[in-house]
Amino acid sequence: MERALDHDTRGRLTKDGIRIYDPSDFAGMHAAGRLAAEILDAMSAHVFPGQTTGAIDKIITDMVEAAGATSATIGYKGYQHASCISVNHVVCHGIPGDKVLKDGDILNIDVTVIVDGWYGDTSRMFVAGRLPRKAERLIEITHDSLMRGIEAVKPGNTFGDIGYAIQSFVESHRMSVVRDFCGHGLGRVFHAPPNVLHYGRPGTGAVLEPGMFFTIEPMVNLGRPETKTLADDWTAVTRDKSLSAQFEHSVGVTEDGAEIFTLSPAGTFHPTYG
Ligand code: MF3
Ligand code: CO
Ligand code: CO
Repeated sequence: MERALDHDTRGRLTKDGIRIYDPSDFAGMHAAGRLAAEILDAMSAHVFPGQTTGAIDKIITDMVEAAGATSATIGYKGYQHASCISVNHVVCHGIPGDKVLKDGDILNIDVTVIVDGWYGDTSRMFVAGRLPRKAERLIEITHDSLMRGIEAVKPGNTFGDIGYAIQSFVESHRMSVVRDFCGHGLGRVFHAPPNVLHYGRPGTGAVLEPGMFFTIEPMVNLGRPETKTLADDWTAVTRDKSLSAQFEHSVGVTEDGAEIFTLSPAGTFHPTYG
């Protein structure tokens, strides 16, 4: 008799409890990541002044279904939507609804899909109408901080090296890194060890090994880093009401660096320069 594959027994665990997947598992992550990225690519056309965040989420829900995939967020801890849409001072986990976008709003759309059991998790920034100068700087630095974090992903480096790369870059531009939320391991599950902190000290934390799959998803504020969660138990906002931005990729550690599973096929991960 054939035994069902148990996702909890793929690969092996490190002493830090981080799963090491097999080289053949990268293909599944690549397919899941690509779908999540394609969905975000398609959202550029649906973000404009007058649009509601609920309408955007409905389009995402339909695209996930049309692809024969599953939303990882619908039903996750009671969450009921296929995306999180976080506008202006919302840091993350904004709930789509009847909120109407206005000219100059910046928003993060975060989508996680399951394809053949593999999770693809990515988010990026969009602009409704014209991009204000201060928001442009914030988006630029947040995007570049993620890419610097990814540049630190290679065997032998540590998770502290990733956090340090992000934090030192952001703070050199007098912006702040949110501490209350972090990236995470993923693969056949949504949120697995380790917590991927977006701040830290070089050489600290677990050592990166080929076959580790995780997200890096820095949230950066123009003001102070503190957040608070609203009464809906999801929406996280900056305490000082300053603007916040976030970019997220799902990555896998290779023999000599990182594979980004959620690269934008359209080249529009960054809203203004691709
Ligand atoms: N996609 C988010 C992350 O980056 C998690 C969203 S969970 C939800 O980890 F329930 F709020 F959708
Ligand atoms: Co994530
Ligand atoms: Co996400």
